[in-house]
Amino acid sequence: MIKKIKLFDPFVDHKEENAIKKVLHSHFWASGTGERNVIKFEELFKKYTNSKECVAVNSGTAALHLALSLFNIKNKEVILPSLSFVSTAHAIIYNGGIPVFVDVEPKTLCIDPEKVKNAITKNTEVILPVHFAGMPCNLDEFTKISKKHNIKIIEDAAHASGTTYKNRKIGSHGDAVCFSFHPVKNLAMPSGGLISLNGTNITKFKDILKSKRWVGISNRKGSKYDVADIGWNYYMNEFSAAIGIEQLKKLDRSNTKRRSIAKRYSKDIKVLRKIPFTKDCSYHIYWIIVSNRNEFMRKMEENNIETGIHYFPIHKMKLYNLKLTLKVTEESSEKLVSLPIHPNLTDKDIKKIIKLTNQFAKN
Ligand SMILES: Cc1ncc(COP(=O)(O)O)c(C=O)c1O
Repeated sequence: MIKKIKLFDPFVDHKEENAIKKVLHSHFWASGTGERNVIKFEELFKKYTNSKECVAVNSGTAALHLALSLFNIKNKEVILPSLSFVSTAHAIIYNGGIPVFVDVEPKTLCIDPEKVKNAITKNTEVILPVHFAGMPCNLDEFTKISKKHNIKIIEDAAHASGTTYKNRKIGSHGDAVCFSFHPVKNLAMPSGGLISLNGTNITKFKDILKSKRWVGISNRKGSKYDVADIGWNYYMNEFSAAIGIEQLKKLDRSNTKRRSIAKRYSKDIKVLRKIPFTKDCSYHIYWIIVSNRNEFMRKMEENNIETGIHYFPIHKMKLYNLKLTLKVTEESSEKLVSLPIHPNLTDKDIKKIIKLTNQFAKN
């Protein structure tokens, strides 16, 4: 049987297997309070990112929902890119905010700081950059903007576990930074997410997040508790956390492997536009721009290479359906293709991907 080269593939071994077995046999599978492996994962991730606090949740979407809920964004504007997974925008709607979509930079496909500056109004409360594909956004520019206008920065770091910006891990910069540990991500769990905190009110925010991730329960003493505010069922379970602990231990190693593949793609893939090479990027995604996307994807599929599209612009989705034009986003998203990039690729796989991409891709 011919091997199928998968677009995403978690990097796992017996360590994850043993960790799951341990949880299974402990009969302690989850807790609303977040104990055992969940606390351990939070502590390890805090140390890894050098952030002030970390609160684990059960998805990246939940992380964004709760992080935005820390700041009162009701009827306020939140600036974000349209080239992202829909959760980035949905999280604003969940909190009663107004998404303001701006364009991305052609080189990195990360949100364009100049476009952000032009979009700021008296009603802007938050800038929500996405580290697209794992490429760090221009956080220095956003910090300047945030100080000048007293605006918060909440980062969508769903692709950026282990990404660095100016020699510091993503997770240690913005007021709140939201990670996803969906199975396709470079730190994979069955489902998971996390919010790291760096701004002011850290202890207060941590308590609020811990309460909101468990249906608003606070003030718990023994079996007694109270609920002062609404919350959700967003806590991380013990299996996910146990897998996450093992994944975190190998994250730098697996990102190094991703970078070495990205370096080869950068050098050997001959398309005119592709994600730039930098040692800072996690390379959760490796994107290229092709003019014959349908044909290219079909031919790759026929040759057992899975490819993907990340993403269709959110502002054009039926739910949002905004009449604005975001030139770079719209033009790029029609031609974007993601190629497989993960530590399970063999040298032979990588050579095959490069060869067939060069054969089938049209500029
Ligand atoms: C950019 C971005 N934001 C948010 C999310 C949401 O994460 P999750 O799928 O863990 O809810 C994802 C994941 O798919 C994503 O890619």
